[in-house]
Amino acid sequence: MELPKSFNNKTTKWGIYLSVIAFIVILGLLIFAGNIDEWSVAGILSFVGLVIVWIIGLIMIPLGMSKTEKKSSPDGKSSILNLTNPKYRNAFYVFGLVFIVFLLVTTAGAYKSYHYMESVKFCGTTCHVTMEPEYTAHAKMAHADAKCADCHIGEGVTGFLASKVEASKELIAIVTGTVPHPIYANEGIHEVAKEACEHCHWSQKFQPNRELKHIHFLRDEDNTEWDIDMTMHLAAGTEPLGLQKGIHWHMNKDVKIEYVATDKDNQVIPWVKYTNLKTGKVTIFESDDEPLEKAAFDTLTVTQMSCLDCHSRPAHDFKPAEEFINSRFVTGAISKDLPEFKSAAMAACVEEYGTADSARMMIPKKIISFYEENYPEVLKDKKDELNKSIAAVLDGFTKNVFPDMKVRWDKYYNNLGHMKSNGCFRCHDNHHVAKNDEVIPKTCTTCHTFNAQGTPGEMQFATAGQLMEFKHPGEDVEPEDWQEGLCSDCHAGVGP
Ligand code: HEC
Ligand code: HEC
Ligand code: HEC
Ligand code: HEC
Ligand code: HEC
Ligand code: HEC
Repeated sequence: MELPKSFNNKTTKWGIYLSVIAFIVILGLLIFAGNIDEWSVAGILSFVGLVIVWIIGLIMIPLGMSKTEKKSSPDGKSSILNLTNPKYRNAFYVFGLVFIVFLLVTTAGAYKSYHYMESVKFCGTTCHVTMEPEYTAHAKMAHADAKCADCHIGEGVTGFLASKVEASKELIAIVTGTVPHPIYANEGIHEVAKEACEHCHWSQKFQPNRELKHIHFLRDEDNTEWDIDMTMHLAAGTEPLGLQKGIHWHMNKDVKIEYVATDKDNQVIPWVKYTNLKTGKVTIFESDDEPLEKAAFDTLTVTQMSCLDCHSRPAHDFKPAEEFINSRFVTGAISKDLPEFKSAAMAACVEEYGTADSARMMIPKKIISFYEENYPEVLKDKKDELNKSIAAVLDGFTKNVFPDMKVRWDKYYNNLGHMKSNGCFRCHDNHHVAKNDEVIPKTCTTCHTFNAQGTPGEMQFATAGQLMEFKHPGEDVEPEDWQEGLCSDCHAGVGP
């Protein structure tokens, strides 16, 4: 097959060398370097680099030809697109063929990497240290089978493109070592699509009630068990019978709740507007604790309440120390027979450690020195039990606290409740008042009723038709403390 003379030039030749070598290496990698799923970030970046070299090589081929022709032809024009000339036609076919092969390989590659880039494994492990906390927390929750992309990528092409812009920002941050510790979704990386939840959960299908049983262990000598059984009133008010106003009523199609927050984490909410879309009635509740000036109001955005305002940690809930220790008492991994173990373990876990390794070293040390000082006999008589219990504490710690990313329970707000942060009490505090003196209620039975509480063997049970009053566990807390104040006054951060 005869090719045009202009094929003989340096640029074209180098283009051929580059593209052939790059193509062979790319094919070799795809065939021999194992599953693309297992490549490191560096591996993926080098692969992208090779594809770029290949494309540059391919572009150099016609570029060199066209330049040579322009130089040698009298009118300074190139005729490489003159397909009536058989030589040029041949060149065109060769180039076209290479291009089609290129297109096929890249389409297959792009399709494969597109799927891979949406996989939980890519999101969670390719950027290993940065995503380790979210990946670990996601793997143990109800959403373990939901893909990262199901929540983190918005609808349609705009959602997809926005997520790629975010991912590129993140890749740059990783390469330049400027990833924030910890990462916050509302600062531009990993924002969550508000509509995502309703792709899988239909608000018409909410359960009316849910029973919860929480098992606690107190910080006394006996690690006394304290159980709380309660019924959450979840109704969305859409049931065919009895339009109960329960917790999911906020998401009822006839209800629109909007609010204004004065901080970026939406923790301080001085203004709430409720519109009944059916009757058109509007009620505005304003905080009498921290009223909002009109001038300040005008600078803030009004947000419509969504699932995320309550379910702020549906996939990555980093449990506080008392919870991951309580749950290991329940399974028996931690022994109840070690005096004051709950208290000693809490003290060791709420400390802030610089790295995961130092935490793994210091937590056992601290617990053991507590026993050396206070109960030396435990070290003699119950050494195995103590070691087993310490190992269980470390297991809970490593699954919920990530010192290297500065991630732990007090870094993110879980708004589903009112203990570690104000959650529901941001609005439901009896201090959000309407013009007609209506308040957003803090009455304990608005959201849940207690069925039983106390220590096993001495439980107090609710009697039919009567609401049981909450009794705060332990001896030190007076009813007026928790009735007038907020639970988070004592429980937020590293509190009990
Ligand atoms: C069920 C929905 C859901 C799934 C599935 C999900 N996330 Fe999230 N993710 C969230 C929500 C909600 C937030 C908190 C958003 C906020 O604070 O505004 C979040 C926050 C984050 C953050 C910011 C840091 C933080 O903890 O707040 C990162 C990083 C993240 N997710 C990564 C991942 C990775 C990696 C996966 C897959 C292994 C994943 N997410 C799967 C809902 C989800
Ligand atoms: C890809 C589908 C999918 C998406 C998207 C999704 N979920 Fe889920 N969700 C599930 C499945 C499946 C379960 C488990 C149901 C079960 O265990 O019965 C679940 C369970 C839950 C539960 C119950 C957890 C528990 O304690 O049992 C809550 C709450 C929840 N999802 C909230 C959300 C919120 C909020 C979002 C949006 C950020 C969301 N989901 C997005 C599929 C999804
Ligand atoms: C006003 C706060 C609030 C809002 C808004 C809210 N939820 Fe919930 N949701 C709760 C509470 C509280 C529970 C009970 C938690 C528990 O059982 O631990 C719950 C339970 C659930 C459950 C498990 C029970 C069930 O019915 O299957 C799912 C799923 C769920 N919510 C999804 C959603 C979705 C999706 C949205 C948005 C359309 C949403 N929630 C909006 C507070 C809220
Ligand atoms: C942004 C403010 C806001 C937040 C946060 C909020 N709510 Fe509400 N909630 C309202 C408003 C407004 C009403 C309507 C009050 C009224 O007019 O009765 C309401 C009503 C309710 C009702 C019905 C009360 C009744 O009148 O019978 C329940 C139940 C409820 N909320 C539960 C919750 C729970 C649980 C949480 C936290 C997981 C929560 N809310 C968080 C604003 C909020
Ligand atoms: C606006 C709704 C709302 C009101 C009002 C409310 N709670 Fe709660 N409460 C919740 C939610 C939501 C949870 C979290 C349930 C879960 O664990 O998923 C919760 C959890 C609890 C728990 C379990 C905590 C644990 O870790 O075991 C106790 C105890 C409790 N509330 C007591 C009270 C008391 C006492 C009052 C009255 C001063 C009150 N609540 C008022 C919504 C409310
Ligand atoms: C004045 C401070 C204070 C207030 C306010 C307070 N608590 Fe507590 N709470 C404590 C202390 C201290 C403990 C530890 C008791 C122990 O372990 O012996 C505790 C322990 C608990 C526990 C057991 C925790 C565990 O370690 O497993 C629960 C549940 C609890 N409180 C619920 C609440 C609720 C619900 C409210 C709000 C209605 C509230 N508390 C308000 C001080 C307070």
